[in-house]
Amino acid sequence: MHLSSKHLLGIRDLLPEDINLILDTAKQFKEVLQRPIKKVPSLRDITVVNLFYENSTRTRISFELAEKRLSADTINFSANSSSVSKGETLLDTVNNILSMKVDMVVMRHSATGAPHFLSNHIPAAIINAGDGINEHPTQALLDALSITEKLGSLKGKKVAIIGDIMHSRVALSNIYLLTKMGAEITLAGPPTLIPKYITESFPVNITYNVKEALEWCDVANVLRIQLERQNQVLFSSLREYNQAFGITKQLLSGLQKDILIMHPGPINRGVEIDSDVADSGQSIILDQVENGVAVRMAVLYLLSGRKEVST
Ligand code: CP
Repeated sequence: MHLSSKHLLGIRDLLPEDINLILDTAKQFKEVLQRPIKKVPSLRDITVVNLFYENSTRTRISFELAEKRLSADTINFSANSSSVSKGETLLDTVNNILSMKVDMVVMRHSATGAPHFLSNHIPAAIINAGDGINEHPTQALLDALSITEKLGSLKGKKVAIIGDIMHSRVALSNIYLLTKMGAEITLAGPPTLIPKYITESFPVNITYNVKEALEWCDVANVLRIQLERQNQVLFSSLREYNQAFGITKQLLSGLQKDILIMHPGPINRGVEIDSDVADSGQSIILDQVENGVAVRMAVLYLLSGRKEVST
């Protein structure tokens, strides 16, 4: 079985069968990760560069770990400690790295479309690790794996995505994925952080009332307020945001059910989510991080063109 695409640029380009194949392969790799020796030789002759033009903790570490678990050779590139500061272009940087016989590129960039641009100019397989406010496909895939582990499947499940939808690549990748896989979606947050085009482009519900979203959903995926991407005032203050839209223990205890709480990280505790919710038994935030390694192993493996999982 193969993915329908040579690259993973976004969930937008994937078929439901691709998503199922990645999730099924990730489940197999998750079994490998439970063993005393958490390593397979699948990518022994493959070299991967992790090209990070923007900061990251979870994505960067889990890609590197996934590559090591698959026995690939890895190179880590950080824009702020490279010759980018001397004016070298993205394409020159990548072509120089590829000339050292690198097979795959994992890339995070603050510019929307940077990995798509690269895919038109280089022969190597590219995995988008987050491009601007566009997509973060492996995050949506690990979110999907985390939901299916707890709830069985995505079809018909009610997922509320709460917070800064406008600046969130996690939101867009989740919307593509959940729509393709038959889940229902409600977007919740301040009107200034929910762009109009989303309602015109996707079958999603909108509410500006977080309590209403929580009462409706099986899963709440809570997003960080991305102040670094906001160049205008979109809400009054972080304190008032927390009062109106923050997920609190009080809000959850008023529900007649237990819902799953997710967050892609990094968390702003006391802003979009309170600590006693993030650290509660309903939270699967660290399961998401754990699943990130298996999902990234699956994506690397499937894009490397191997025929079957060597376990
Ligand atoms: N979820 C996520 O992308 O986190 P990082 O920015 O730390 O990689």
